[in-house]
Amino acid sequence: MSRIVLGVAGGIAAYKACLLLRRFAEAGHEVTVVPTRNALEFVGATTWAALSGKPVAADVFTGAEQVPHVRLGREADLVVVAPATADLLSRAATGRADDLLTNVLLTAGCPVLMAPAMHTEMWLHPATRANVATLRSRGVVVLEPAEGRLTGADSGPGRLPEPEDIEALALALLDAPGLAERMAAQDLAGQKVVISAGGTREALDPVRFVGNSSSGRMGVALARGAAARGAEVTLVAANLALPLPSAVSGVPVGSTADLAEAMFVHAADADLVVMAAAPADYTPAAPSPTKLKKDGDAGLTVEFTQTTDILATLSGRRPPGQVIVGFAAETAGSRNELLALGQAKLARKGCQLLVLNDVSGGRVFGSDATEVIVISPSGVVAEATGSKAAAAHAVLDAALALRTAERKPA
Ligand code: CTP
Repeated sequence: MSRIVLGVAGGIAAYKACLLLRRFAEAGHEVTVVPTRNALEFVGATTWAALSGKPVAADVFTGAEQVPHVRLGREADLVVVAPATADLLSRAATGRADDLLTNVLLTAGCPVLMAPAMHTEMWLHPATRANVATLRSRGVVVLEPAEGRLTGADSGPGRLPEPEDIEALALALLDAPGLAERMAAQDLAGQKVVISAGGTREALDPVRFVGNSSSGRMGVALARGAAARGAEVTLVAANLALPLPSAVSGVPVGSTADLAEAMFVHAADADLVVMAAAPADYTPAAPSPTKLKKDGDAGLTVEFTQTTDILATLSGRRPPGQVIVGFAAETAGSRNELLALGQAKLARKGCQLLVLNDVSGGRVFGSDATEVIVISPSGVVAEATGSKAAAAHAVLDAALALRTAERKPA
């Protein structure tokens, strides 16, 4: 359980902060909502108090005996501002302390995550750009707003990222010490990252398929995490069980052949490629063009052929400087056996890094928690236990370190 201050500035997206608050509360965190006065024009104090189970104030005078303007910031494990308006970004950048939220921002010693939402012109205005740069230079994580339909008929960058994206990044910040600095520094800016996620489906006939239980959560966490650190992210998504993150461009695919085709196109000029998807190793040799009918009491025999090994093919074509990461879910009896299986697979696939997890006893699949070991041909380079979001950042850190090393002249 962590203590989160949820700051809400005065924009129409304030209503989405109610959903974010519920998600934090359902995840077991103690949330204090600090709206600005203008935010209360959009969603009233009663709603915030009822949803958080705590009193709500926008000014520094309410409950002054408890010195909330200092205590809240000091005691928080994380401050999230959603939505952060152009005015709030400006006040935070210049260090104003004219309401409770800006006081909290000046006293917080914990990571601060801001999710801006405003009209496109305001977001792109040089004044806002400068305020965002100032805040980031001070270690504040300022997300890029999502693109899409705004309040009126117009569209462009300015939408509040979806509550599940903000929540996932917030929880990663709570889990991974030092991540706020890397996100604020946008250390993946300028990197083109291509990630595959999900499980492929191989058609038996027009309505039936052979699939697997990959949910795509790990790939989605990687895509969301890379985008939050400034990368340009393409997510090649095979039958995902969850929505695409706001800040990535999605390429939906169905079968292993579709996934291979999309990866070969998008990975060609990528800086970092991550094969987090679970492609099928075999596909029906001759899927029926019509729905298969039962044939009396007879069983069914289907012939399968092997699919393309996408990771091995990508590794064989790897352009100089590109870093390719594979995944391997193994059932191993011990850590040593897991590492040995991993090294053999790494050599077979030819990629630079392999993310290993032990799935003995049905662990990991579909869950939000994971335990990963990242290996290179020279041994273990990183390990992470906890949320998939935190593990995703450990994988991205290892890949970025390798990419930086690969680009250094010998
Ligand atoms: N992979 C791939 N193309 C395939 C199968 C797997 O690119 N046709 C990738 C996966 O995305 C993953 C890695 O290869 O990154 C390892 O997947 P895994 O299923 O463990 O590899 P296999 O070669 O199928 O090994 P095994 O014989 O152990 O199943």
